[in-house]
Amino acid sequence: MHEFKMVSAAVRSRKVRVCIVGVGNCASSFVQGLTFYRRAQTNEPAPGLMNVDVGGYQVGDVEISAAFDISANKVGRDVSEAIFAQPNNTFRFASVPPSGVYVCRGPTLDGIGRYLREDIVESETGEADVADVLLRSGTDVVVSYLPTGSQCATEFYAERAIEAGCGFINCIPVFVASNQDRAMELDLTDLILVWGRGSRGSVRALPRTPGAAGECFFV
Ligand SMILES: NC(=O)c1ccc[n+]([C@@H]2O[C@H](COP(=O)([O-])OP(=O)(O)OC[C@H]3O[C@@H](n4cnc5c(N)ncnc54)[C@H](O)[C@@H]3O)[C@@H](O)[C@H]2O)c1
Repeated sequence: MHEFKMVSAAVRSRKVRVCIVGVGNCASSFVQGLTFYRRAQTNEPAPGLMNVDVGGYQVGDVEISAAFDISANKVGRDVSEAIFAQPNNTFRFASVPPSGVYVCRGPTLDGIGRYLREDIVESETGEADVADVLLRSGTDVVVSYLPTGSQCATEFYAERAIEAGCGFINCIPVFVASNQDRAMELDLTDLILVWGRGSRGSVRALPRTPGAAGECFFV
């Protein structure tokens, strides 16, 4: 059994395959939203969704390819279940069908800070090879919902995204690309960057141009 779905090149070409890092409350909203808005059409209003169509892609074109967490409550579970596991408490607004994608164990690094230490029991499952999972799951974009302050973990996943040829959307207030020296050091200048005003806002991708790193940061 694989923790992720293997897909053919033909299927990949139409879908935007997203790996979630940090299956917490934001991830719950995102994954539920993929079900809730799956059939949203450009010619009808979709309350709560600012853009039904982005560059020709609609919500139904986005699918979860892989997921990483470190919590014993989430690792090893289907993403559709993990998004509702404690201590997540996001309002349940969609019935998410089983995804066939199981949450992999990522490295903890600085993901658990002082305040989360009491709320999260770490999984005893061995750490997955993150770049390998990204490659084999056909992930296009890594979306990071790590806890605030996870500087090392953010840099780690951004580097693995580079290795696997994925884009990286940093949804947390940790800077990874705007510090040019650090970005060069980490070889992050070749990332596809996406920016916007809040993850509910419109986003746009910048070309994959060496040396063109800006900040991929959502607030
Ligand atoms: N962009 C936005 O609009 C927006 C809105 C709210 C919050 N945020 C940011 O999004 C982030 C997530 O918020 P949340 O409310 O979902 O937090 P949360 O605490 O509910 O979820 C964080 C998840 O990350 C997991 N995690 C911790 N270390 C990890 C690691 N090393 N590898 C993989 N997973 C790890 C935790 O187990 C948890 O499941 C925060 O940094 C927050 O500031 C962004």
